[in-house]
Amino acid sequence: MKTGLNLALAFAFLALLPPSQTSATETPNLELGKTLFHATSLGTNGKSCASCHPDGEGLHEIEAYDEEMLREMVNFCIRDALKGKMLPLDSQEIVSMERYLRTLD
Ligand code: HEC
Repeated sequence: MKTGLNLALAFAFLALLPPSQTSATETPNLELGKTLFHATSLGTNGKSCASCHPDGEGLHEIEAYDEEMLREMVNFCIRDALKGKMLPLDSQEIVSMERYLRTLD
């Protein structure tokens, strides 16, 4: 009786836990990454990533960053350098940009 109750509680508790971490639902796409890298639409000040990082300038150290760190760097530049809106870290857009940046080295 007591055990049954504990089990029920354990199941109730498990049900309350957040679902396991979601990963990018869509496949990253290098073409999309490239397009976004050159797009001024990510921000509001008419600049694109390529304005400040032509041919990947300033991005040669990025091998040192893991996926999440690099996506966060991309987001900081979207927010601060482009005056844009940060992207969800698991969105196809940011994952595609992260993959594209790694091809620039
Ligand atoms: C107005 C100029 C400007 C724009 C536009 C810009 N960045 Fe940056 N970015 C910088 C500067 C400055 C740094 C710091 C560079 C450094 O640490 O040497 C930087 C750093 C970075 C870094 C970290 C590099 C490192 O090795 O630490 C990444 C990644 C990056 N930018 C990606 C992007 C992406 C992607 C975009 C477009 C969404 C973008 N940047 C737009 C100026 C810019």
